Amino acid sequence: MRVWAVANQKGGVGKTTTTVALGGLLAAAGARTLLVDMDPHASLTSYFGFDAEALPGGVYDLFRAGAADAPPPAERILPTRFERLAVLPATPAMATLDRQLGARAGMGLALAEALATLADDYDRVLVDCPPMLGVLMVNALAACERLVIPTQTEFLALNGLERMLRSLAMIERARGMRLPRLIVPTLYDGRTHASAASLRALRERHADELAQSVIPVDTQIREASLAGVPAGAWPAARRGAQAYRGLLDELLAQEAPLALEAAS
Ligand SMILES: Nc1ncnc2c1ncn2[C@@H]1O[C@H](COP(=O)(O)OP(=O)(O)O)[C@@H](O)[C@H]1O
Ligand SMILES: [Mg+2]
Repeated sequence: MRVWAVANQKGGVGKTTTTVALGGLLAAAGARTLLVDMDPHASLTSYFGFDAEALPGGVYDLFRAGAADAPPPAERILPTRFERLAVLPATPAMATLDRQLGARAGMGLALAEALATLADDYDRVLVDCPPMLGVLMVNALAACERLVIPTQTEFLALNGLERMLRSLAMIERARGMRLPRLIVPTLYDGRTHASAASLRALRERHADELAQSVIPVDTQIREASLAGVPAGAWPAARRGAQAYRGLLDELLAQEAPLALEAAS
C-alpha cells in the first residue's frame, strides 16, 4: 500500500480536486484506491454524493480506536459508483477533534494505524487534508510517504505555500525525517498576469520540488466536481484531465520501488 497526502494550509487551491483526480486515474488504471477525507468540511465526501451530516461516522472513529464501540476502520469505508474507488468519509464531528484531543500523546498516529489494518485491501491511499495545521493534518503527514502540495498560481497563494513549507519543516524536525514532496501549480490561467508571474516565481524559488505539470483552470473540472465524477471518468482529451495524467506520471516516476517489488 502506498500513501500520498495532498496538503496545503490554504483553502481553495485545488487539494480536493487533485485528490479526486489522481484517485480517479489510479482506480481507472487498476489500483484499488482509497480516498481519505481529513477535512471536517467534507468536500471530498460530498463530491461522491454522500451527506456527511447523515453518515454514522468515518475518519472521526479512527480517533476513538480504543473505545469499546469504535468500529474497525474498514466498516466506515464507502464504495463509490466507480470501480476500485472507495472513500473513508469526513463528518462534521471531526471539527471538534483538536479541542478534544489537544496534545494527547499517541493521537498523531491514528490514521497510520488504521491504514495498517487496510494494507491488504488497497494498493493506493490518497489523503485529502484540511486547510489548517492541527491533529488531522499531523496525522496525514505521519501516515504518508509522499506529499503533494497544490498551489494556486496567484500571489496570496504563494504566501500560503511558504507558510505550509515552514510548518512542514517544523514537523519534519520533530520527526527527524524529510518527506518527499511535489509542489503542483494549479488553477493556472496563462491569459492573466498573476498566473504567469506566480508560476515564474514558483520556478525561481522551488525549482527542485516543482511539478513539470501545470494544472490549468478548466471549467469542465468544476462541472465534473458538481456532477461528482472523478478524473478517471473524464473524457481524456480535456485539458484538465491531460494535466492530471501528466502529474500522475511524474509522481509515479519519482516513486521508489516498494521493497517487495524491488526484491522480485
Ligand atoms: N483546475 C481547475 N479548474 C477549474 N476549477 C477548479 C480547478 N481546480 C479546482 N477547481 C475548483 O476550485 C474550487 C476549489 O477547489 P478545491 O479542490 O475544493 O480546493 P481545496 O480542497 O484546496 O479547498 C472548487 O470549486 C473546484 O471545483
Ligand atoms: Mg478541500
